[in-house]
Amino acid sequence: MTIKDILMGEETLFRDIEAFNPDYIPDRLLYRDSQMEALAMCLRPALRGGKPKNAVILGAPATGKTTALRKIFQMVEESSDKIYCVYVNCQISTTRFNIFSDIYEHLMGHRPPETGIPFSRIYGEIMRKLIQEEKALIVALDDVNHLFYSKNANQVFYDILRAHEVFKGARTGLFAIISDIEFRFMLDKNVSSIFIPKEVIFNPYTSPQVKDILQERVKVGFYPDVVSQEVLERISDLAYSTGDMRLGIDILSSSGDLAEADASKTIQIKHVEGAVKSTGASSLESTLEALSPLELDLLRLIVDSQDEENTAGSLYQSLKKDEKTSYASFDRALKKLELLRIIDTQFTGKGVKGNSRRVILRFATEEFSVLPQKK
Ligand SMILES: Nc1ncnc2c1ncn2[C@@H]1O[C@H](COP(=O)(O)OP(=O)(O)OP(=O)(O)O)[C@@H](O)[C@H]1O
Ligand SMILES: [Mg+2]
Repeated sequence: MTIKDILMGEETLFRDIEAFNPDYIPDRLLYRDSQMEALAMCLRPALRGGKPKNAVILGAPATGKTTALRKIFQMVEESSDKIYCVYVNCQISTTRFNIFSDIYEHLMGHRPPETGIPFSRIYGEIMRKLIQEEKALIVALDDVNHLFYSKNANQVFYDILRAHEVFKGARTGLFAIISDIEFRFMLDKNVSSIFIPKEVIFNPYTSPQVKDILQERVKVGFYPDVVSQEVLERISDLAYSTGDMRLGIDILSSSGDLAEADASKTIQIKHVEGAVKSTGASSLESTLEALSPLELDLLRLIVDSQDEENTAGSLYQSLKKDEKTSYASFDRALKKLELLRIIDTQFTGKGVKGNSRRVILRFATEEFSVLPQKK
């Protein structure tokens, strides 16, 4: 292909290339009905003149949290004028001023001036508008853990949740979205006295679910017969084993690009392989890099004792022999490994309250040869 062909060629395999954009909101969000229902229940009182319920939305990366939230916000704003739904990306808006500027913009249609206007005025204008229009406000703080780094969480939560104390009749609520179990704990530590949320959990997708979701995206994004079952399966396996739906969607679209560049009418396995190389997805290995020393020690222990029947309790006993660790930090490390889809845990119905958990490795032991040795 010449450069001109690449830029101007009309032939395409993509029916709707936007279906692969990161901010694309699919028409059908599969397997998330119960989570969407739970969020709707939180908003329901606000549609009838009450206060929205607070929620914490919890789940591993790429499990559909942001998408579900944006979808429900869209639905609410399209069908009711009783509530303002404001989405805040806390990776971008990290200060109290920025977050309230986002809210202000949503309500007023323009941002407040960056300088020369005190926070209290912006805040006051927002609250007075809510009261005057008799509308409730729900603020979704996505990736809220970033507010903990900047230590602004407590203040912002307080500003939103206690608005009614100063502005009588203001009805406000908050959804906090977190993708790392570690921060569930930080939330408790930082804002538990004012924030008592309903928990909405986005559990990881099973292998058939991953395949269904990608299949649906293929239907929307590509012309019929561009993606064979074999190709779909290869990409689904990859997305499932890395626990990363986003990777699956990326690889779908990059393989489409490669196939087009090849002037091929279908995506072939070689295009998938090329796409995988270019995304640098090294799956398990890159997941392991993100683990803390304690999480690594625990994982090593699980790998080394695979032949025995491991329970959470027995693992804690063995781990404790080598290092001083509280049960709470052990439990967090275990949950982290589960969230990252390295292990599964299952209740056995045995133990003191019938809540003993069996711990199962989700990969073959050989795959952990990449595990760094204990220092
Ligand atoms: N149930 C689903 N149906 C269709 N697409 C989905 C579903 N779940 C996730 N996706 C897709 O996977 C990608 C990641 O989803 P999303 O951004 O909502 O995840 P997230 O849980 O917010 O992740 P993070 O914690 O990394 O922010 C998006 O492209 C989204 O469209
Ligand atoms: Mg998200």
